[in-house]
Amino acid sequence: MKNYHCNEITENILNQEIKLSGWAGKRRDHGGIIFVDLRDYTGIVQLVFNPEDKELFMKAESIRSEFVIEIRGMVNPRLEGTVNDDLATGKIEIIVSSLQILNKSETPPFKINDGNVNEDQRLQYRYLDMRSDKMQKTIRFRSKLIQIIRNYFYSKEFVDIETPILTKTTPEGARDYLVPSRVHPKEFFALPQSPQLFKQTLMIGGLDKYFQIAKCFRDEDLRSDRQPEFTQLDVELSFTDEEEIIQIVEELFTLIFKDIMDYSDDLNFERMSYHDALQNYGCDKPDLRNPLILKDIKELVKGVDFKVFSDHVNNSTSRIAALRVPGGISLSRKNIDDLTELVKNFGAKGLAYFKCEDISDIENGIASPIKKFLNTEVIQNILNEVNAENGDLIFFSADSTEIVNSSMSALMKELGSNLNLLSGGWKFLWVLDYPLFEQDSEGNPTSIHHPFTSPKNFSDLSETDVYKIPSRAYDLILNGNEIGGGSIRIHSRDIQMKVFELLNISEEEMNKKFGFFLKALSFGCPPHGGIAFGIDRLVMLLLELDSIRETIAFPKTQSASCLLTNAPSSVDEKQLRELSINTIKSIK
Ligand code: AMO
Ligand code: AMP
Repeated sequence: MKNYHCNEITENILNQEIKLSGWAGKRRDHGGIIFVDLRDYTGIVQLVFNPEDKELFMKAESIRSEFVIEIRGMVNPRLEGTVNDDLATGKIEIIVSSLQILNKSETPPFKINDGNVNEDQRLQYRYLDMRSDKMQKTIRFRSKLIQIIRNYFYSKEFVDIETPILTKTTPEGARDYLVPSRVHPKEFFALPQSPQLFKQTLMIGGLDKYFQIAKCFRDEDLRSDRQPEFTQLDVELSFTDEEEIIQIVEELFTLIFKDIMDYSDDLNFERMSYHDALQNYGCDKPDLRNPLILKDIKELVKGVDFKVFSDHVNNSTSRIAALRVPGGISLSRKNIDDLTELVKNFGAKGLAYFKCEDISDIENGIASPIKKFLNTEVIQNILNEVNAENGDLIFFSADSTEIVNSSMSALMKELGSNLNLLSGGWKFLWVLDYPLFEQDSEGNPTSIHHPFTSPKNFSDLSETDVYKIPSRAYDLILNGNEIGGGSIRIHSRDIQMKVFELLNISEEEMNKKFGFFLKALSFGCPPHGGIAFGIDRLVMLLLELDSIRETIAFPKTQSASCLLTNAPSSVDEKQLRELSINTIKSIK
């Protein structure tokens, strides 16, 4: 007798005897007949227990939710009026002839497939949560995605190589997770923030096309698209350049979309410089589905006697920007107050605006809290600059460039979804021409990507303004989310040391942290470059899920703990002694 999956049982196999196993849903007793929904990962089937067979019927009465059962029975058409068109198996039911209860279950804390269970409870009982259709779909989709990725890289003759988890620090901008060494008291391994230095070392070792589905660990502030432990598709090639890497990635995504997204239209990968991204969208990961664009108006408000603008007009680190929102006149006072609160979270001091009722009549047709500070000519110039139309709302922001950019890009994102402005399906964008460095909060240069990124030209390193040195980095953005990033690397020891020097890393520190790598660079390192993608984040976007946690079988919470196992947890004194670790109560 064939063992079936639930969704295979349709009217095509009527009157056949079948065997089926899975979990029991709720039992319904209906006037002498018992109905039970049997569930496996493919769907559900209705089982019918008739009272004629008393022993079988009594056994069926003992079935509770989530009992594991195996049945044999006959596939029967459902009676007219009881057909359920929403179910693949809705036209049939199984008249059960034998039942085996393989295992009992405690009463589950929530119903499988109940969409309203709180996340902590789902994570605590992840094994039950995983039985839901949604989690099954996601986890199986992820597996299929990884299969496509692996097959693609194998077909291109890339070598799949595992790199160490117990290792030395890899700077990717987060804190390290440390693992104490028992054998070497007071010494620690760091878990890799990425396999960056190993993949570069593989290039030096002559493994000229590498890829790996790699676990990475970063102790950083968590958000819906960040986990402390996550998975990258990591790629590196020797004797390559930006164009080859871009071409490999575009081919991969075209394949992914064709194979598991059922999408065979051209994906249309656009390109934009980092400078243009910040200028037009205020961030380096613009969502091209959103039509809103920022315009600089500093020049237009030069002579204006209004403190909000005049404080910034002559400051080269400030920006004054306008944002035209087509149809934005429909926003209420309360909406605008909420948006003002939103931008204030990013340090903005306010959110001035024009309401454009009739742009041909500046006197009566434009309403604005700042109108009294501006003459007709300035207003007209601003309207022209943003190509204003009747019905528009125009927002203004004046502050440090950083505050204007971060607050306005958040505003654009919010308006994009609130006003349903997003269009165009899947929008891929390569952001290129990043500078090598940006300023950190203490005013020192820090790598925008990581310190192994090559400058565009080695001679650029003598540039007096380090923030103007262009790099060979690139990021791939999908619908406003950074899904991957990489660069052509430095392959010369001297240049690498020069970059460390510009980052204020002393020679002693260089040798301590990266000595092994600097040495490797001096033994004939080929030119090379690569990229890495966040697999969890990619699955989240492709399946339009709200959080990266939905894509991971056993994720951590927002506060970096595992509710299933209760990790992290304290360990006993003996283990600590073995590791030469003395814990203290708290550090203030
Ligand atoms: P980067 O740090 O940009 O580059 O990481 C690459 C991609 O990994 C994903 N990602 C994350 N996903 C989930 N949780 C996190 N905490 C997290 N951090 C990053 C993002 C990101 O685009 N070694 C370089 C790559 C290279 O240069 O080749 C690196 O790790 O999708
Ligand atoms: P105030 O003069 O502070 O009452 O501000 C007048 C208008 O300008 C209000 O609508 C404020 O929200 C707005 N505003 C204040 N500061 C800024 C700023 N830095 N950028 C943009 N608008 C601002």
